[in-house]
Amino acid sequence: MAQVIVNGNFVDRSEAKVDIEDRGYQFGDGVYEVIRVYNGKMFTLAEHLKRFAKSLDSIGVSHAYTEQQLTVMLQELIERNSLKTGIIYMQMTRGVAPRNHAYPAGDVQPTFVAYTKGMERPVENLKNGVKAILTEDIRWLRCDIKSLNLLGNIMAKQKAVLSGCYEAIQYRGQAVTEGSSSNILIVNKDVVITHPSDQRILKGITKEVILQLCRTNQITVEERVFTLDELADADEVFLTSTTGEVMPIIEIDGRKVKDGVPGSVTRKLQELFSKEIEKQCGPLYNL
Ligand code: PDD
Repeated sequence: MAQVIVNGNFVDRSEAKVDIEDRGYQFGDGVYEVIRVYNGKMFTLAEHLKRFAKSLDSIGVSHAYTEQQLTVMLQELIERNSLKTGIIYMQMTRGVAPRNHAYPAGDVQPTFVAYTKGMERPVENLKNGVKAILTEDIRWLRCDIKSLNLLGNIMAKQKAVLSGCYEAIQYRGQAVTEGSSSNILIVNKDVVITHPSDQRILKGITKEVILQLCRTNQITVEERVFTLDELADADEVFLTSTTGEVMPIIEIDGRKVKDGVPGSVTRKLQELFSKEIEKQCGPLYNL
């Protein structure tokens, strides 16, 4: 039976319970992280814990656990579930209190849950690329917080799914912001361009690794707003995310991106990214 964490305790999945007045359930009043696990080891753990802490600070929820305590708990969770390749999902909410929009007064204990899920690398999609649609970004203006409130994101993703596509690329006015659950990067004349990490997008950890790899490998990076026209004219388009890694986008709204095959810069970055995973988590056999 799968083991999960509820408020610091390991319990069987079937016994895990959260109160119906948990503010995460009623208001989406909480934050989360998704961490990749390769060979039983967490990839970019420190970065995820840092972003988790920042999201908690942004909504004024106390941390409940130190980074050290979280590290120990999550490692034990991996071991108890014998997880090799997959993800850890964890979330913290403001806790249980009688329903009222205002934050509860006094010392309410935040609710913390975490679980693992086996998930192979999306090898076929990484090789062949995926299709995307364009959709207006209807979300709020604090997309930098990894909030449980994901209605805008899931509505966008559902539109993509209904069109037989992997991702929905969102835009505000002429500016391309990010995917429904990923960051979007374009390559134009060998320059990698992506939206700056402000309050309109999530500062993706995969994206940050890629930008760092670009810089150390003499690939020019521009973190600036780019337009729908630039997206349409791009030599290459790819997305980054914890689960999707560095995923080529080969078609947008039924129109091929250049020749409709993954581009050379994207390929190079996939290689460099795989090496980075191997550095932290050991050998990968399936790409
Ligand atoms: N999604 N932007 C959004 C809106 C996201 O939801 C995600 C990740 C990203 C990429 O961030 P990172 O590289 O740190 O995973 C960007 C996660 C995986 C999810 O919700 O499942």
